[in-house]
Amino acid sequence: MSTPLLTVDNLRVTYRVGRRRVAAVKGVSFSVARGQCLGIVGESGSGKSSLARAILALEPAATGQVIFAGEDVLKMSRAARQVFRRRAQMVFQDPLGSLNPRLKIGAALAEVLRVHGLARNRREAAAQTAAWLATVGLDAEYATRFPHELSGGQRQRVNLARALCVGAEFLVADEPVSALDVSVQAQILNLLKTLQTERGITWVLIGHDLAVMRHMADELVVMQAGEVVEHGRAVDILASPQHPYTRELVAAVPDVDRALQCRA
Ligand SMILES: Nc1ncnc2c1ncn2[C@@H]1O[C@H](COP(=O)(O)OP(=O)(O)OP(=O)(O)O)[C@@H](O)[C@H]1O
Ligand SMILES: [Mg+2]
Repeated sequence: MSTPLLTVDNLRVTYRVGRRRVAAVKGVSFSVARGQCLGIVGESGSGKSSLARAILALEPAATGQVIFAGEDVLKMSRAARQVFRRRAQMVFQDPLGSLNPRLKIGAALAEVLRVHGLARNRREAAAQTAAWLATVGLDAEYATRFPHELSGGQRQRVNLARALCVGAEFLVADEPVSALDVSVQAQILNLLKTLQTERGITWVLIGHDLAVMRHMADELVVMQAGEVVEHGRAVDILASPQHPYTRELVAAVPDVDRALQCRA
């Protein structure tokens, strides 16, 4: 087997609450192979977002190891961290908050390309912008729109274009569709899946919905109170959940229930 793109080893995340330090992630370990999707499920407050931020070095108080492409993210030099920030990016729940409201989409993407020295002039930037918009399923005319003139799903597409255009190869999507209308949730998830299968993007999908995980995740991590209680191939876990909490989750999804009955 090839070396995983990401290996998390005994990761702990703590927060200071008043005078105490409270652990939100309590020694979590797993790895993600290149080109795979790892799903993370767990009840509210189980530490999923804390884990996500720690993986991307957005959380100061993390101990343990996060090895990305052979380098420890928690111990990177400033220069290495800058490169890492391009290669590994977060996809947030609310795409509006991460877009500048005063910049048209085309200008925003061109600015990112320019800052990173990826386009030499306006024409190159415009051509690349159009290509990235096409990659995420948006017509070139969206370049002339402001963020508020897009739907939530379209904004999430723009966010993905922005991550990809600077060379993202690893995405952490923390409930990327929960703020979106149900009718577009599947479209965005399918786009992420396509980026995985067609461009080799490696990603972590955080969510609650096991039916979604069945379609998206190759491997699944189940968290409870800051710990991993189950980890394995998603199909295996869904077919025969071992931990009581996972059993409860699986039982709560009618879709999965049916799938299990079909197998039996
Ligand atoms: N900035 C913070 N300061 C103090 N405690 C925090 C902070 N952020 C999160 N926590 C605590 O850490 C624990 C894990 O929170 P986290 O947001 O990681 O959970 P989650 O699994 O993402 O939940 P949800 O499904 O609701 O998004 C919770 O008990 C939460 O209250
Ligand atoms: Mg969360």
